[in-house]
Amino acid sequence: METKIFDIKKLNIKERERAFALAGELIKRGELVIFPTETVYGIGGNALDIKAIEKIYKTKGRPSDNPLILHVANFEAVRDITTGDLDRAEKLAEAFWPGPLTMVLNKNIKVPDRTTGGLNTVAVRVPDDETARRLIEKSGVPIAAPSANISGKPSPTKPEHVLEDMKGKVAGIILDGECSVGIESTIVDLTGKEVVILRPGKIAPEDIGRVIGENVKIDSALLANKPEEASKAPKAPGMKYKHYAPKAEMIIFQGARADVEQEIALIKNKKEAEGKKVGVIIFGEEDFEEAAKELFHRLRQMDKRGVDIILAAAIDTENSLGFAVMNRMIKSAGYNVKEV
Ligand code: TXA
Ligand code: MG
Repeated sequence: METKIFDIKKLNIKERERAFALAGELIKRGELVIFPTETVYGIGGNALDIKAIEKIYKTKGRPSDNPLILHVANFEAVRDITTGDLDRAEKLAEAFWPGPLTMVLNKNIKVPDRTTGGLNTVAVRVPDDETARRLIEKSGVPIAAPSANISGKPSPTKPEHVLEDMKGKVAGIILDGECSVGIESTIVDLTGKEVVILRPGKIAPEDIGRVIGENVKIDSALLANKPEEASKAPKAPGMKYKHYAPKAEMIIFQGARADVEQEIALIKNKKEAEGKKVGVIIFGEEDFEEAAKELFHRLRQMDKRGVDIILAAAIDTENSLGFAVMNRMIKSAGYNVKEV
């Protein structure tokens, strides 16, 4: 398929106007358009059009029981596709939208079952990215958009990742530089009595709790350090799949930073002496934002370099963004964590 590429940074105001009109038109027609958000790039289609939804699953190679996040322009649009009490949602929207927070709410009949993987709940967010919002406004419909990677690969955070995975597979790609956050949105479930974090992200559980004046729980599947524990079904269906996985074996080393660095250096030398190609991922101990922004890129680079083994330093999970990054890292490594 011929993919129309709109590289926003290279266009003048008039050309941008035209690009968004065209891309919005493609979404309305049931085609797929990839667009940037502040978290990761998304592969978007009309959330109310079953044919578009099917294209998304097919293009990503995504299991059909894994529901999609709906991207909308504002809170009014949330009322339009949900049912039930929206008090907590409204408070959170006021505090964090536009931004990297996804809320799970009860859906109404406008949202096809196919979009939500058969669930009667729906995940929604208003992204804090000018480009994403312009596309949503132009298309005039909620845009269902999972991360724009082929299923199982790290989410795309830079234009080159999107082109690698998706050029020729979708009708349109909007490029606008790299994503500022770099890991996917925090998902919070507001459909039960208790408020539960289903996927950690930049928006911290403490901050969510403060805004709604309630205790916030963390889905127990997220606290797993071993695959056995992780196999307790997580409430976000997508969290159960193997994710972000590089081709190489990956080991995460946990402990005092100096010891970890020493151990990594040691194993690196040993493996290289055996003729293996070794990749190392060590972020600054306090550089949580940098780690979030760069992790997926680093993992993709490792694949490109064709390394045999990746040695990584654990991230401090006391910090909430650190916890979110470590959640992705652990999955990349298939729970291969060594204490030093
Ligand atoms: O930052 C993000 O959220 C990015 C950008 C593009 O917005 N999107 C994203 O979508 O990460 P995706 O499809 O890669 O991840 C969606 C996650 C999956 O784990 C899915 O199972 C969960 O959200 N999810 C979607 N709808 C849900 C629902 N109704 N109940 C529970 N979990 C849901
Ligand atoms: Mg994803």
